[in-house]
Amino acid sequence: VTTDELDAVAHAAYVELGAYPSTLGYRGFTKSICTSVNGVICHGIPDDRPLRHGDVVNVDVTAYVDGMHGDNSATFCVGDPSPAIAGLIETTREATLRGIAAVGPGAELRCVAEAIEPFAWSRGYGVIREYGGHGIGRTFHAAPHVDHGLQSPSTVVLVPGMTFTVEPMLVTGRATFEQAPDGWTEHVDDDLPSAQFEHTVLVTDTGVDILTVTAEGKTAVGTLDDLVTA
Ligand code: MF3
Ligand code: CO
Ligand code: CO
Repeated sequence: VTTDELDAVAHAAYVELGAYPSTLGYRGFTKSICTSVNGVICHGIPDDRPLRHGDVVNVDVTAYVDGMHGDNSATFCVGDPSPAIAGLIETTREATLRGIAAVGPGAELRCVAEAIEPFAWSRGYGVIREYGGHGIGRTFHAAPHVDHGLQSPSTVVLVPGMTFTVEPMLVTGRATFEQAPDGWTEHVDDDLPSAQFEHTVLVTDTGVDILTVTAEGKTAVGTLDDLVTA
């Protein structure tokens, strides 16, 4: 399967569901999803390279429906993951859930990074600091910028009604990267695998809701209750 094929499947699904793919035509981006494979941390452009056994693939889906954007991604392994890849993906999933679970009214925005970066480090992974989550709603990428690392902890106070993404990128090696000549693809310098999960969340009166869920309420990272009881 090529990532172009995944893009075609996704494009048909957006249209069938009455959504527009937010990335299509966004600042010159030409595809309906981002597919970031192995050492690509984010913004990979679907292409005609067939995926291979063991590839680590993030699929980032953004839908514009009824005047609002939703942004959601998950990372998969092609075939059975090695223990190292399984650990990377599983830790990134849990880091994302921990970041989301930290959100609530009255908290400061740095609560997300506080929940994510020390946890990732404790498992031996790095966290990308130059890209973060973002406010989202009528606009695809809005304020605030949501750091996943503690480089400059934000004191922005969260209030009910805010919507933003939590989307940490974890790396196996060094958290330094470079942009490809295509102007989008961000690739780690050491070529070691990276992973990412992303959800769009809403600050509520009592805590946080994950908005990017299936019709049955399922998320890509599990449920907040799982984490509390784990
Ligand atoms: N979905 C990405 C995000 O999480 C943004 C993709 S913009 C694109 O913010 F142009 F690269 F598709
Ligand atoms: Co996003
Ligand atoms: Co996204």
